[in-house]
Amino acid sequence: MLEIQNLEVSYGAIKAIQGISLKVHEKKIVTLIGANGAGKTTILKTISGIVKSKSGKISFCNEEITKTPPHQIVKKGIAQSPEGRLIFANLTVLENLKMGAYLVSNKKIIKETEDYIFAIFPRLKERISQQAGTLSGGEQQMLAIGRALMSQPKLLLLDEPSLGIAPILVKTIFEKIVEVNKELGVTVLLVEQNARLALKISDYGYVLETGKIILENESKALLEDKEVQKAYLGI
Ligand SMILES: Nc1ncnc2c1ncn2[C@@H]1O[C@H](COP(=O)(O)OP(=O)(O)OP(=O)(O)O)[C@@H](O)[C@H]1O
Ligand SMILES: [Mg+2]
Repeated sequence: MLEIQNLEVSYGAIKAIQGISLKVHEKKIVTLIGANGAGKTTILKTISGIVKSKSGKISFCNEEITKTPPHQIVKKGIAQSPEGRLIFANLTVLENLKMGAYLVSNKKIIKETEDYIFAIFPRLKERISQQAGTLSGGEQQMLAIGRALMSQPKLLLLDEPSLGIAPILVKTIFEKIVEVNKELGVTVLLVEQNARLALKISDYGYVLETGKIILENESKALLEDKEVQKAYLGI
């Protein structure tokens, strides 16, 4: 569904991504793990079209999107829930969700998606008219994921959904990601510092180190890999 070939991205003199190739197959959950500054967010932003690549090719559903502008990428079916959540603090929960659907014209579909989001995140339903900036961190994370889902994505890009969230809620959020994948059939590319949980819910994983992929395998195999255990799982 998504294929990246020899991607290079630079910020001025900083070579953030140095020739990366990866694939995300339809209906799978694929995870990208790596330390701070490895380039995880940069990869997601490049897929979304927010950051421009220096070279390489990105294809989505067999169509090249390397130079496609961000709003058209959303239209093609890719939505990103950004790191640090970035919800609209002065808008209500419902208004934030509606913003996610700005490219969807079918009102019935918008309503159905809203209902689905409120069913998986009942906390959001209870806070439907609350200003998003006053939600707790975990609730803002749910809202960011919900807002991304409002655009009817085929591929959901999640940047550190567990960031700053209490362990008990982290588990819930990961369960919801699996639910969205299994029930809605949304393909997921997940970036996480919480490598253990991410590998547990995903099918395949890539390990990123200073802008390069150093390892890739079935998530199950990565969980049992001695190097991965030492560097990322604290075993
Ligand atoms: N706008 C920017 N301008 C200059 N350098 C940047 C910019 N954005 C990112 N970088 C640099 O690119 C590298 C990769 O950053 P990126 O945010 O992709 O890492 P990350 O893997 O998401 O890290 P983290 O786990 O801390 O979120 C870092 O060295 C970072 O300092
Ligand atoms: Mg990041």
